[in-house]
Amino acid sequence: MHIAVIAETGALETRVAATPETVKKLIALGASVTIETGAGTASGIPDADFEAVGAKIAKNAKETLKSASVVLKVRRPSAAEIKLTPKGALVLAIMDPYDNAEALATMAEAGLVGFSMELMPRITRAQVMDVLSSQANLAGYRAVIDASSDYGRGMPMMMTAAGTVPAAKVFIMGAGVAGLQAIATARRLGAVVTATDVRPAAKEQVASLGAKFVAVEDDEFKQAETAAGYAKPMSAEYQAKQAALVAAHIAKQDIVITTALIPGRPAPKLVSEEMVKSMRPGSVIVDLAVERGGNVALSKAGETVVTDNGVKILGPLNLPGRIAASASALYAKNLFSFLETMIDKTTKELAVNWDDELVKATNLTRDGAITHPGFQPKA
Ligand code: NAI
Repeated sequence: MHIAVIAETGALETRVAATPETVKKLIALGASVTIETGAGTASGIPDADFEAVGAKIAKNAKETLKSASVVLKVRRPSAAEIKLTPKGALVLAIMDPYDNAEALATMAEAGLVGFSMELMPRITRAQVMDVLSSQANLAGYRAVIDASSDYGRGMPMMMTAAGTVPAAKVFIMGAGVAGLQAIATARRLGAVVTATDVRPAAKEQVASLGAKFVAVEDDEFKQAETAAGYAKPMSAEYQAKQAALVAAHIAKQDIVITTALIPGRPAPKLVSEEMVKSMRPGSVIVDLAVERGGNVALSKAGETVVTDNGVKILGPLNLPGRIAASASALYAKNLFSFLETMIDKTTKELAVNWDDELVKATNLTRDGAITHPGFQPKA
């Protein structure tokens, strides 16, 4: 069993799919591990730290991938990386499978066995493998840090001899994993925090973090959560009621952080241009959904837009990558925990149980074909 970890080649990707901690554990399970030189640098892990726990360092991706039976990655392998990967190798990554049919087909045709970590079911056994949670949590934290650094006023209320600085008003839209961490972080910094979501379960979670819940709580709201725990797309009627409520609220906020997503769909549009214009100069908006089309009108992926009325809209790409050392540590642990379930502890060889629900839920490609029912090529 030979495990390869290559340096990520995607622009802005600073994370790495293994850490000395996980490499050590993989070697204890009988694997040999090769790391491409520099793979951990942007996450603060020098080659020497990997070598110290028994990994080999290879000079490039080709050398690293040679004879790999498992490849651990952050992002879906590129066409060039796929070419270098031996047929039949397992590849574990954040595959971003939605609307990427061509890339999945390339991976399938190359005979790779791809696993999409973000399709991991949200059941108790798989919590330790849940990359969406581990990365979204850090993104929520980082969004508040970035917003506060771009905000020209203080976050907590400060009473000084020279006058009082009022506490910042922070509004979090979407109270899932990222939103809840954003609430907790903004509260720790002393802001007055409100939050909204369409799932009723979010109400209590928001309150338990000391924030006020603001939402349209009608009959549709009561049924907005799917069996998998995600939000449903809301009706036009609900969206109109939500927009009316949000419009009045947003005009009074200093910082708005939006995190609303619906799996496999474009992000819901929650903040209109009029709402942005209603905010005071110096206000800051962070659109965490920008990679899926954005929750905010005017937000641009990877850019900071400053509106005519002086509102800054941040559209950060890869927020977890801005806190790379922590993100890599958690992500590597997620991958290790899943891979461990595919290793026979006695023979110390790979032994994938294709009937395991975690394997079935995450396997995208195998034996030259796309295996996942959700991503079959359209006839
Ligand atoms: P997500 O990233 O898919 O969406 C973020 C948030 O946006 C969600 O809370 C969603 O309800 C909200 N949202 C969607 N449309 C909206 C709209 N129109 N207006 C306002 N908000 C909207 O969600 P995430 O963070 O992945 O969490 C989804 C659920 O999974 C949560 O209930 C979470 O507690 C649960 N979860 C369960 C786990 C487990 O049992 N192992 C692990 C992690 C999360």
